[in-house]
Amino acid sequence: MADLKAKLELPGNDAIELPVKQGTEGFDVIDISKLGSKGYFTFDPGFLATASCESAITYIDGDQGILLHRGYPIEQLAVESSYLELCYALLYGELPTKTQFDEFMSTVKAHTMVHEQLAFFFRGFRRDAHPMAMLCGVTGALSAFYQDSLDVNDARHREIAAYRLVSKMPTLAAMCYKYSIGQPFVYPRNDLSYAGNFLSMMFAVPCEEYKVNPIIERAMDRIFILHADHEQNASTSTVRLAGSSGANPFACIAAGIASLWGPAHGGANEACLRMLEEIGTVDRIPEFIERAKDKNDSFRLMGFGHRVYKNFDPRAKVMRETCHEVLSELKVNDPLLDVAMELERIALNDEYFISKKLYPNVDFYSGIIMKAIGIPTSMFTVIFALARTVGWISHWKEMLDQPGHKISRPRQLYTGEKSRDFVSIDKR
Ligand code: CMC
Repeated sequence: MADLKAKLELPGNDAIELPVKQGTEGFDVIDISKLGSKGYFTFDPGFLATASCESAITYIDGDQGILLHRGYPIEQLAVESSYLELCYALLYGELPTKTQFDEFMSTVKAHTMVHEQLAFFFRGFRRDAHPMAMLCGVTGALSAFYQDSLDVNDARHREIAAYRLVSKMPTLAAMCYKYSIGQPFVYPRNDLSYAGNFLSMMFAVPCEEYKVNPIIERAMDRIFILHADHEQNASTSTVRLAGSSGANPFACIAAGIASLWGPAHGGANEACLRMLEEIGTVDRIPEFIERAKDKNDSFRLMGFGHRVYKNFDPRAKVMRETCHEVLSELKVNDPLLDVAMELERIALNDEYFISKKLYPNVDFYSGIIMKAIGIPTSMFTVIFALARTVGWISHWKEMLDQPGHKISRPRQLYTGEKSRDFVSIDKR
């Protein structure tokens, strides 16, 4: 690669040269790490133009609407691959051979059960607790149960923790649901696929036989694939930041879950469905479009817009097709879909949305599919978290696998009071 340099003129100083780094795809980055020694920091709240790390896992071109995992386009992965195959590629860098895949699957299956004591841990929650609140708590609590894989400096421990998380998340997610509706927990079934086992733990009851519907199983697997990773988003950056201090992997993933919960991030699928319910009928859409455009109204069209995609989110394209397939194959006639389709049509033709490049994102369609499958709205973000765990843990592993990684410690532009003397309370 060419030895590129950027020149920066600093007030009162001669111009300095900053190295320019080039990746395999995407924007070049200016290495400003030595700028502090010149008495300057850079200022970029919200990380609008800051690369926080070097990564070889996922690439997004937001202008072109491209998403690659380990170089493979998401459209191909969604149609030709499976979630577990993608998990392997995210964790190890390459798609597995048949032997590697069989071994990977059997190891994932060997870890699907959770410590029996965790069932009692759940009993500490109120039944009406939000499933994300429970998931956050029980995932963090895994560090109290699996103390034999907490040494983050040991590569084998890191690998075991990664397996445990990928294997146990469906079990924990389903337990959150079962607990909230007062049904007994259903043990994992290792004869089923990853998605099939999750559906069984969600919908089976001990007194009846449960048969996995292959259409729903495929749709679930596709939802998992489309949420598996998304580069340095808020929750992934949270996991990296937490992990940079040497915190244990279960605590780091719990931090990621907390970050994901917000409506601007993973919470958008739940918020989107609630918005569609609030709109209710097609004739009320214009009113909500007007509210979304009104600067004095905090209302936003949930499921629209993205920090990186300024074109159609490629995941949304696949999700849109899956959504139609699932609804027609399951013969679901959902009036909310009419609202969603009309909302999509209006927004894609409206000058406000066109000029701001606000396209429907993945959450716009995933909620409708999950509703058709019978998953309650409060579980939507939990399913996002389940699927994203492999992305989080791959980034966490990548960071710790890199030699000489440092604790992440952003700097600030201080705007508070200058130094002043303490005044005792009787003199204030
Ligand atoms: N409805 C109406 N206006 C919007 C919307 C929206 N959904 N999204 C952005 N805008 C406007 C915003 O008001 C701003 O206008 P102006 O320039 O006049 O001030 C402009 O578009 C740029 O918005 P921004 O908030 O500066 O953009 P951002 O990159 O900081 O935010 C976002 C991205 C995803 C948080 C935002 O688009 C949003 O809140 N969308 C709704 C929530 C949502 O669907 N989130 C899921 C994201 S995809 C899943 C995931 O990766 O987690």
